[in-house]
Amino acid sequence: MDMLEAVERKIGQFIAELNDTEVAALYAKLPHGKRLRAKLILRIAGVSLPVVKTAAVVEMIHAASLLHDDVIDDAYTRRNKPSLNALYGNKTAIMLGDILYSKGFFELNNISAEVSKIISNAVVQLSLGELKDVSLSKTFNTDKDVYLEMIYQKTASLIEASAGAAAILAGKPKEPFMIYGRNLGLAFQMIDDLLDITQDSETLGKPALHDFVEGKTTLPYIYLYESLSETEREKLKAMHGKVLSKEELNWIMVQMQERQILMKCYAQARELIDEAVELMNALGEDALSEIAMEMIDREF
Ligand code: IPE
Ligand code: IPE
Ligand code: MG
Ligand code: MG
Ligand code: MG
Repeated sequence: MDMLEAVERKIGQFIAELNDTEVAALYAKLPHGKRLRAKLILRIAGVSLPVVKTAAVVEMIHAASLLHDDVIDDAYTRRNKPSLNALYGNKTAIMLGDILYSKGFFELNNISAEVSKIISNAVVQLSLGELKDVSLSKTFNTDKDVYLEMIYQKTASLIEASAGAAAILAGKPKEPFMIYGRNLGLAFQMIDDLLDITQDSETLGKPALHDFVEGKTTLPYIYLYESLSETEREKLKAMHGKVLSKEELNWIMVQMQERQILMKCYAQARELIDEAVELMNALGEDALSEIAMEMIDREF
């Protein structure tokens, strides 16, 4: 993917412009992710300088959100390496996050007012979503609509905005691309929440089975709760937000398996993706099916 190369170079240039050796050294230590958001933007809008800049900014913003997220979630691995908070502490992780966010916002001004507005507003939503995620984790949330609203804010909003910004830059109609991006983003976080349960930490490159321990009742836990008897519900609730024993973990897994909870969640994500793909096919945007599938059929 040499189109992505241009994005990597642009990020490197933005970092160099900060003119700070400490920040350059810290950033150099951060492993790259899957770059799904950049790929999405390039796939919608092709390659031009504003498109590459937008993709670079979005990946910097995404990296910033992960630096803060690992502090919030007490997570000590990321992209198969110790997280920055694990290596240098929360203070450094928070400030590098702030620097990446701020440089991103600064660069948005050099793209276009419309792109700047759509992306920066999504970051407001992302932050509101992360705060909501924290608040919700203090009790056992069983409300699916509240969960969906929260994942829309923390994850789908930036993917929706990426698709919208790419459409603007390509002179395509913004609305259908934003619906497409919203569906992709919701499905993407649903799969992330599934992978937390099904994959080991080596495959994920980040902690596995960590969400429930952190108090997060993601969709599989909500569906499991719904399907349990009153006494079983109490048992599950008692495990919420704690480090679990092997037996307790095993009990949860057996209950999930018996009730085919994971399949139910996957099917729901798949429905969102199918809807998104149909919408794009109707516009003759067949090339956008593949990336939609990549969002859900993944190992990490
Ligand atoms: C992780 O995003 C955070 C979520 C929104 C689930 P990615 O899975 O895209 O992370 P990287 O960039 O590939 O590491
Ligand atoms: C966070 O969701 C998504 C962000 C918007 C940063 P998670 O907390 O589930 O992301 P991971 O699993 O740590 O990547
Ligand atoms: Mg996290
Ligand atoms: Mg989190
Ligand atoms: Mg996760």
